[in-house]
Amino acid sequence: MRLLLLCFVLFSLSFASYDRGKKLYIEKNCGNCHGSKLEGMHMYPALANRAKGFLAYKLKRFRSKVSDNQQQEMMIPFAQNLSDKDIDDLTTYMHEFVEDINKERYDTSFAVEGDGGS
Ligand code: HEC
Repeated sequence: MRLLLLCFVLFSLSFASYDRGKKLYIEKNCGNCHGSKLEGMHMYPALANRAKGFLAYKLKRFRSKVSDNQQQEMMIPFAQNLSDKDIDDLTTYMHEFVEDINKERYDTSFAVEGDGGS
């Protein structure tokens, strides 16, 4: 029973982390460069479903103003004010990313029933 409870708590924590990460990703405009589906574009790397540890490592390096090349310097101002928790939540979101389905597109209430009235 206690184990079940622990599992539940851990599950809801990771759920909360994903949602908070998503909120931060939107608020901090990460999507302007990395894309709203984390798909990346041009020189901006895709972030979806990549290793959490690697993403966190990179963000912490950018936060401490370390970059390997001039292009990465662009990331420094965006990582600057992130707390450890922000990085943890953002990387949970990126690592576990699942595309939101546009529910209205699949709304079956418009589906024609029967012979379609013809
Ligand atoms: C102005 C555009 C821009 C914005 C906004 C931006 N990034 Fe980046 N990001 C970059 C660039 C450029 C790189 C480095 C690409 C390279 O290594 O050549 C990068 C690299 C990264 C990396 C490392 C990925 C890798 O493969 O090395 C992570 C993680 C990342 N960004 C997360 C974020 C997060 C989280 C935010 C929002 C807080 C954000 N970025 C906002 C441009 C941006």
